[in-house]
Amino acid sequence: MIIYYLSAAGNSLHAAKYLAAKFTAAGEEVCLKDMAEAMKTGMLQPEGTVGLVMPLHYFGVPLLAEEFLLRMDWGHTDYRFVVMTCGSHYMSNAFHQLTASLASRGTVLDAAFYVDMLSIYLPLNDIPPTAKKERRLQKADVRLAWIAGQLQQRVKAQDHEYLNLVSRLIHDFTRRHRAALDADFTVGEDCIGCGRCAAVCPTANIRLEEGRPIWQHRCTQCLGCLHICPRKTIELGQKTKGRQRYRHPQISVEELLRR
Ligand SMILES: Cc1cc2nc3c(=O)[nH]c(=O)nc-3n(C[C@H](O)[C@H](O)[C@H](O)COP(=O)(O)O)c2cc1C
Ligand code: SF4
Ligand code: SF4
Repeated sequence: MIIYYLSAAGNSLHAAKYLAAKFTAAGEEVCLKDMAEAMKTGMLQPEGTVGLVMPLHYFGVPLLAEEFLLRMDWGHTDYRFVVMTCGSHYMSNAFHQLTASLASRGTVLDAAFYVDMLSIYLPLNDIPPTAKKERRLQKADVRLAWIAGQLQQRVKAQDHEYLNLVSRLIHDFTRRHRAALDADFTVGEDCIGCGRCAAVCPTANIRLEEGRPIWQHRCTQCLGCLHICPRKTIELGQKTKGRQRYRHPQISVEELLRR
C-alpha cells in the first residue's frame, strides 16, 4: 500500500502516520510519500491500495493536490481512499472534486473520510488554547482509529458533504487568483535568515535574498511558512498578527522540511 500525504503544519502527516501504523500493526506493508516530493518524478503509477491524506483547503482539494492528481495513473490500483483533515467539514466539495477527477481517469474513489482536527487558517481564527486544542486532537485520534478499521475492511463509503455549490464557487475563485495568494505575506525585522520557511514550502515558492524570504507567486497558501517560522515573524495580512503558531504536537519540524 502507498499513502501519499500533503501537510503544512503536521495534521495530515500525523493522520497519515497514524493510519500507516495501524495498517502495519495489522500486517500490511505501507509506504508513506510526500505528494510534493513524489511530483518531482514524472507520471505516478502506484499499484494496489492507494491512499491520499491531505488538508481541506477553501472547501476543496489543495491546489497542489489538484496538480498531483493530474500526474496519477490509477490503472494498476485496486482500492483508492482519501482522508482529509480540516477544521470542520461542515461545508465542502472536495470528495465531489476527487470523485470527478478519478472518474475522468476511468476509476472510482472507494472511500473518503473527513477528520475534524483544528484549522491552521490563521487569518480567520486563532489556534485554540492548549486544553481545547488537546481535546480536539484526542478526538481526532479516536476518529482516525475508526477510519483505520474501515479502511482495513476495504469498505466502500463516503462522508456526506454540505453546501457543495457554494464550496465549489469559493474554491474556483481561489484557483483563479492563485498568482495573488502570496501577495499579503510580510516578514518582520525579527527574521534571522534560518531558511526554514523556504525549506518547508511544497512549491519552492520562497527564495532567500540577503537572508530574507521573497515569495515568488507560485503559492498554494498552505501556510507552512507562516507556522514554521521560529521567530513567528511571517504574517499574512493584518489578522494573523498576535495569533499563535501551530505544529501538530507529534510531528517534528524536521519531518515537515523538504530541503
Ligand atoms: C488555505 C487554507 C484553507 C483552509 N480551508 C479550510 C476549509 O475550507 N475548511 C476547513 O474545515 N478547514 C480549512 N483549513 C484548515 C485545514 O484544513 C486544517 O487545519 C488541516 O488540518 C491542516 O492540515 P496540515 O497541517 O496537514 O496542512 C484551511 C487551511 C488553509 C491553510
Ligand atoms: S523561517 Fe522566519 S526567521 Fe527563518 S528565514 Fe524564514 S522568516 Fe526568517
Ligand atoms: S509560500 Fe508559504 S503558504 Fe505558500 S505554498 Fe509555500 S509554504 Fe505554503
